[in-house]
Amino acid sequence: MSSELTPIDKAKFVAAKQASEYVLSGMKVGLGTGSTAEWLVQCLGEMVREEGLKIKGVPTSKRTGLLAHKVGIEVISLSEAKWLDLTIDGTDEYDSDLTLIKGGGGAHLREKVVATASERMIVIADATKKVDTLGAFPLPVEVVPFGLPVTQALIEETLTGIDVLGREVTLRMNGTDPFVTDEGNFILDLHLKRIANPRQLSLVINQIPGVVENGLFIDICDVVIVGHGDGRVTTRDITNDTASVVRFDVLDDDNIFAEIAD
Ligand code: A5P
Repeated sequence: MSSELTPIDKAKFVAAKQASEYVLSGMKVGLGTGSTAEWLVQCLGEMVREEGLKIKGVPTSKRTGLLAHKVGIEVISLSEAKWLDLTIDGTDEYDSDLTLIKGGGGAHLREKVVATASERMIVIADATKKVDTLGAFPLPVEVVPFGLPVTQALIEETLTGIDVLGREVTLRMNGTDPFVTDEGNFILDLHLKRIANPRQLSLVINQIPGVVENGLFIDICDVVIVGHGDGRVTTRDITNDTASVVRFDVLDDDNIFAEIAD
């Protein structure tokens, strides 16, 4: 890891740092996927190693599981945990209702299962993730590989009756091959540009045979913690309608987590 943090790195780090204060010894914690969630896992690892924090982590992807293990967090499966106190994850977009689009990293299926099994979900983000209307970020839809063209055609047909601005559907690729999720499925990205009614869209998409889960998180997220490049962090909790601001000092030459860097 470079010792020089970009403003976006700082924003993600301070959001993760603030979110880590919600994690208490004895908790079972869902660990999200993506670059912001990785900062969180690093923060929690440091608390485990240096402050004696005792938690069990349920990773939302194989790569988060590997990182959690590497930084010293006890990793258990969701089947073992059954119910979690808290999940902390990143997002690709969020709106004022804390409805999210997730799945840019291809992990939204496990992320949604884990978040739904949690007492609370906290999203950590930099300020670029806030939108007035969801949909600029393509909506990921996890589908089974069997009959892919049929499922894609059904999704395209369904979209003709939905209030969106774009209707292009593309298969996510990994080089020359389809991207494969941790569950062995494919991802179709729906380039909708603007989603007028996320709840309706989510319901109709999930009714199509072959669809496993879409990346809309509705009524799942309770708190959003937004980091800024200058160290400011804003927290909004929609369960008690509170908002707060704190500030962290992050020095430009801070080599955070240097001891576990590559
Ligand atoms: C993973 O599938 C996603 O849901 C991520 O949580 C989301 O893409 C946010 O990732 P970043 O923190 O890297 O932006």
